[in-house]
Amino acid sequence: MKLTKKCFANITKMLDFYSQFNPSPLSIKQFIDFGLSACERKSFIFLRKELPVRLANIMKEIHLLPEHLLRMPSVGIVNNLYATSFEEIVHFEKAEINESTLDKFCQALVKIRNRHADVVQTMAQGVLELKDSHDVDLSTENSIQYFLDRFLMSRISIRMLINQHTLLFGGILNGHSRHIGCIDPMCDVIGVVRDAYENARFLCDQYYLASPELVVKQHNELERGNEIRIVYVPSHLYHMLFELFKNSMRAVMEHHGEDSDNYPPLEVTVVRGKEDICVKMSDRGGGIRRSQTDHLFKYMYSTAPQPSKSDAHTVPLAGYGYGLPLSRLYARYFHGDLVLLSCEGYGTDAIIYLKALSNEANELLPIFNKTSSKFYRTTVTSADWSSQCGGGMATRQLSMSHAQGHRLPHGMQISQC
Ligand SMILES: Nc1ncnc2c1ncn2[C@@H]1O[C@H](COP(=O)(O)OP(=O)(O)OP(=O)(O)O)[C@@H](O)[C@H]1O
Ligand SMILES: [Mg+2]
Repeated sequence: MKLTKKCFANITKMLDFYSQFNPSPLSIKQFIDFGLSACERKSFIFLRKELPVRLANIMKEIHLLPEHLLRMPSVGIVNNLYATSFEEIVHFEKAEINESTLDKFCQALVKIRNRHADVVQTMAQGVLELKDSHDVDLSTENSIQYFLDRFLMSRISIRMLINQHTLLFGGILNGHSRHIGCIDPMCDVIGVVRDAYENARFLCDQYYLASPELVVKQHNELERGNEIRIVYVPSHLYHMLFELFKNSMRAVMEHHGEDSDNYPPLEVTVVRGKEDICVKMSDRGGGIRRSQTDHLFKYMYSTAPQPSKSDAHTVPLAGYGYGLPLSRLYARYFHGDLVLLSCEGYGTDAIIYLKALSNEANELLPIFNKTSSKFYRTTVTSADWSSQCGGGMATRQLSMSHAQGHRLPHGMQISQC
């Protein structure tokens, strides 16, 4: 759709209107209950307001980005994609509810999902364009970190809503009969661990011609002896595990050298407690220096060679340094977390925490308001879940959980989930 001047003026008005509302976070339990009753009409009524609200909240933040970043061609592309999608959804604002409207709505959602499929890479490209053409000071870097956490979290949440609706009502089954939309009420954690391992191992074998083995342990504190099943979005869990496996494999292979004939295995321990599910991945890949740990969750921080521009669309995010920060967002999206603990010279433990109870697994959403705008002007210092640049290690978790304790006012392949 081509956006004319008049169209833009109209969008601006609608943006102002919808950005006044706070997004409504849902819990996994609410997603499930909603999915079980499966009323398309209700879902439509909810989404035709909620989607523009979530889009408007984040679009307002895009507009607050530093001027020179906004002028980067790739950021312009993303901005236009959002404007087009926002316009398409708002179109249903007052539509009469009948079969044809519901069908058109579903088709529009599929179109939007496809349109935004490469947004993470495009935005990453925009930041690279800025770094190539300007000196980026610390304050701008902090604003970008703050923005990307919120922007990408918003994107995860919008895709979650779209996937639920289109899977439940779009007539395309995802091949798993027990799934409710994209949620598996009996998600086999170890099964997902093995899938992610096999796929990462394939890449590792291709690149290094060898790979470490996998050892899996589990402990079900609630039902001793039973395998661990959780209510979760398997594609999100897969995303995090795949990224962690790639990191651990790379560390092990590089630390022990390609000529070694004995690579220490990766150990994954899955534990189900009363409140938390923990998935711990331990490697003996030489660990990470403490002086580097503040950078691990920064977008663009990578010790891998940066992909060339021509790779950008064929090998998504390889070496962009989005693996850890984006995985942590997936964990945090339903109020879990991802932390790294390392012993330099030995190895690293990465732990994914998930909420064991589906009614506690609430969406964590960015909300546009006056306080968010100040983060784009000053150096980020105060506590907000998305303002904790870096600090992925356990020492920084206190301030993070403190920030999470204050609920926000209301309340893949890569990133295709
Ligand atoms: N298990 C680990 N052992 C040693 N270093 C690690 C480990 N995990 C992460 N790192 C370090 O943290 C950096 C950032 O990791 P991250 O996954 O965010 O980006 P990347 O792997 O470099 O690129 P991408 O994941 O986007 O392809 C890595 O480049 C690496 O230096
Ligand atoms: Mg990585």
